[in-house]
Amino acid sequence: MSTAPFTSGGAPGAAPFDPAQLAQWANALFTASPGNTAALPGGAPVGVQPPVQLAPAGSPLASPVGLSPAVPGTPIPQGQLPGTNLLPSSPAPVAALVNRVPSLAPHATSGNGLPDHLTTAVPAYEPRVGGVFLGAPEAPAAHAPASQPSAGGAGSDASPFYFLRSGHGQPASAPVSLPGAAFDPLSVPVSAAPVQAPAAPVNPAAGTPEPAYYFVHATTLRDGHVTPAMPGPNGTAPQAKPSAHPPFDVHAVRRDFPILQKRVNGRQLVWFDNAATTQKPQVVIDRISAFYEHENSNIHRAAHELAARATDAYEGARKSVQRFINAPDVNEVIFVRGTTEAINLVAKSWGGQHVGEGDEIIVSNLEHHANIVPWQQLAAAKGAKLRVIPVDDRGQVRLDEYQKLLNDRTKIVAVTQVSNALGTVVPVKQIVELAHRAGAVALVDGAQSVSHMRVDVQDIGADFFVFSGHKIFGPTGIGALWGKRAVLEDMPPWQGGGNMIADVTFEKTVYQPIPNKFEAGTGNIADAVGLGAALDYVMRIGIENIGRYEHELVVYGMQALGAIPGVRLIGTADDKASVMSFVLAGYTTEEVGHALNDEGIAVRTGHHCAQPILRRFGVETTVRPSVAFYNTFEEIDRMVAVVRRLASQRRAG
Ligand code: ALA
Repeated sequence: MSTAPFTSGGAPGAAPFDPAQLAQWANALFTASPGNTAALPGGAPVGVQPPVQLAPAGSPLASPVGLSPAVPGTPIPQGQLPGTNLLPSSPAPVAALVNRVPSLAPHATSGNGLPDHLTTAVPAYEPRVGGVFLGAPEAPAAHAPASQPSAGGAGSDASPFYFLRSGHGQPASAPVSLPGAAFDPLSVPVSAAPVQAPAAPVNPAAGTPEPAYYFVHATTLRDGHVTPAMPGPNGTAPQAKPSAHPPFDVHAVRRDFPILQKRVNGRQLVWFDNAATTQKPQVVIDRISAFYEHENSNIHRAAHELAARATDAYEGARKSVQRFINAPDVNEVIFVRGTTEAINLVAKSWGGQHVGEGDEIIVSNLEHHANIVPWQQLAAAKGAKLRVIPVDDRGQVRLDEYQKLLNDRTKIVAVTQVSNALGTVVPVKQIVELAHRAGAVALVDGAQSVSHMRVDVQDIGADFFVFSGHKIFGPTGIGALWGKRAVLEDMPPWQGGGNMIADVTFEKTVYQPIPNKFEAGTGNIADAVGLGAALDYVMRIGIENIGRYEHELVVYGMQALGAIPGVRLIGTADDKASVMSFVLAGYTTEEVGHALNDEGIAVRTGHHCAQPILRRFGVETTVRPSVAFYNTFEEIDRMVAVVRRLASQRRAG
């Protein structure tokens, strides 16, 4: 079976249609009115949308989905593709349609066989809900420039539409914005008691209460005079990094996540189980379904148009990963099922080659089981030793003890960047540097970090970086292993099969170069494409912006939980992301979890696949709320109210 990569439009004459004819159709589409659709072919090309009269840039009418109400007089998309029924006739769907201005984003990559002027004008897909045309899945940030990051890298190419600034077309919600880069949430006093939000106005579109003034909390926090949460050893507290972005509107991003509109046990869902998995924005849901509707094929093999589109989409997603983690070379990105598979790949391949009897492998006490068990298995198979960096009483790794563990038998150091159980942000750059000085290689587990902070693999300097798509608003069953080219090239494949070979005889197999060498068999193509969409989405919003907002949530939540009698916070390091683990005296963690669930609040209780670190703190389980950038201060208030009620009932009893 040939594995020669095929991308559509690669060879002259490869396009299975006449480009001039396509150009004519496209022009017709984008100038079409009900009167001139005759110019269109009997069967429209895949992915073509009806023309839309876009409002001028900067006009409130130009706002994307979920960011502005339907405005009377807004030009309504006209035209209809043959064989489709795209235009709603009743006012309500029209309003929905107006709110979902289709993107004119280009096809996933160039070179898909379409003439250039078409690739920049024809969206790759045409998502629908309930049969109603909804515009391209770029919807939430529809006018963002096709996810091309600026020179500043990931996070610097945010869509203007999430951000609170004049003239952005945002309805008058959340007028009180967080302060910009100058805001240091912990150099300012923090309110002791949760601040009550003003009455929540109702968003008629969603039919659910939309608290509009979350940022009043932040303002109040700034103006209050209370001890900061999570003070450091010298009385300082963690500081959010300045953001290049203005503050985003949490209400706008919440509307991108359909599941957040759900009610659970009669209450609006509060999703505080983000460390287990994150919810998915519509743009990701739409992208996956668009793949199956319009592009589905296996990749790299068949010389036909859909194989080419699928290959373009898959390789486009690899480029999104590259941009997101700032990898120097797209071929250093290997798609895997997730973090667990990535670590197993490295342990089996690199470890199998480089670790021998008497060698040492270092992990930290914070690790998830996925970053313990594969190394234990390797050590047992090779007669090597697993050594563990201890943590201090607040849950931070002890660099002094780490340095003592390093020696010339140390072969690899594998550490998490953020603890899934405690939320500790680990100084991985220093750990990597020390590992390298000792002649070891280093792996960083980014499963819990990627959705909360900028990851730049070149800056971190590790040899391997791994993460899972589902922790960053992407699908389950897909993740990435990044490795330095020279290191990956030197490693043997860990699985054999199709796709990863260049030539096979019964005597011998010649392997493909990276990344294919490590991608045996048919991969999770559609979910890789979904992951690409998720990363593009995050890059449009800006990861620093996300991190700063979440940091404020964590500071607020830790402060409020810590003030409840009987609550013991587990993990109080200076630098924390997302996670607020705790136990409540007199209750099992399951009891607390159930009480929260009764109020529609989802948290994980249990050992979080990180038993060693919980035992370090003398507990077997914790209650673990973990926030993402779509969570709000008001949601934290709801959670804290339940825990406070439990605490007071226990005391009264
Ligand atoms: N690793 C996931 C968690 O921490 C499953 O919950």
